[in-house]
Amino acid sequence: MVPPLNCKMAGSLGRAAISEIFYVFVTCGLICLMNASNHHLDQSSNEAIFTRIYAHGHWGRSPNPYDRFFSGSGSRDPAVVEPYIASVEAFVRSLPFKPSGLDLGCGDFFVGSRIRHLFDHYTACDVVGPMIDHHRARFQHFNVDFRKLDISRDPLPQADVGMVRQVLQHLSNDCIARFVTAIPHSCRYLICTEHLPAVEGFPSNIDKPTGGYIRLEAGSGVDLMQPPFNLQAVARRQLCAVPEHEGVIVTTLYQFH
Ligand SMILES: C[S@@+](CC[C@H](N)C(=O)[O-])C[C@H]1O[C@@H](n2cnc3c(N)ncnc32)[C@H](O)[C@@H]1O
Repeated sequence: MVPPLNCKMAGSLGRAAISEIFYVFVTCGLICLMNASNHHLDQSSNEAIFTRIYAHGHWGRSPNPYDRFFSGSGSRDPAVVEPYIASVEAFVRSLPFKPSGLDLGCGDFFVGSRIRHLFDHYTACDVVGPMIDHHRARFQHFNVDFRKLDISRDPLPQADVGMVRQVLQHLSNDCIARFVTAIPHSCRYLICTEHLPAVEGFPSNIDKPTGGYIRLEAGSGVDLMQPPFNLQAVARRQLCAVPEHEGVIVTTLYQFH
């Protein structure tokens, strides 16, 4: 015979079921809305590609149903995120002034929300329009200038320190090359984070189509100072390196002038 549930157990099972139903409902609603908003876009544009990735949860989903967007474990895992935050903080505090910040490809803004206080004026941009609209409301109290823009095509805002974290690894070489041409005119410093093979002398900058996957799967990774990008910087320094998934997530500081 099945033992009767006591009231407490029945109550907590009921709450779990309701929150599960709520989560499924919110997620389905989000996918429908984003698919609808994606419909008018050129399906090969960066905007359509990354809107689709978020709508379908290609980088996973947050266990918190209120997190509408999830940029992947590299944006949430404390083992990856904390050393990054510490190294950005150490660099920013070493400057003789409080710099303005430019977050290029801000994603779900989980990382951005942790470093925003280090900066004076802060601009955060991403190519996914519905996510930027969502951030303007959800992170209103962070006093951030959220903008929808494509860092490989649109004019870049001005700032002392630009940060592009695990974004270029998703882009084609054409897109990266356009970004490399524009960035020294936008920022004095660039903090760039890329997921790279853990082996010395890996073949850099093997081309790929823009999308959710990265060059690591082909044994390659982005090195901005190597051909075909040849980024010109007066100084370059590694800020941190964290092993992750048969590779290493490397954060590099570039100074342009
Ligand atoms: C893996 S997520 C990283 C998000 C964030 N930087 C972080 O570290 O948590 C990559 C982000 O770059 C954005 N992105 C990709 N291509 C872009 C482009 N051309 N212009 C602006 N944002 C772009 C994507 O929409 C996505 O939010």
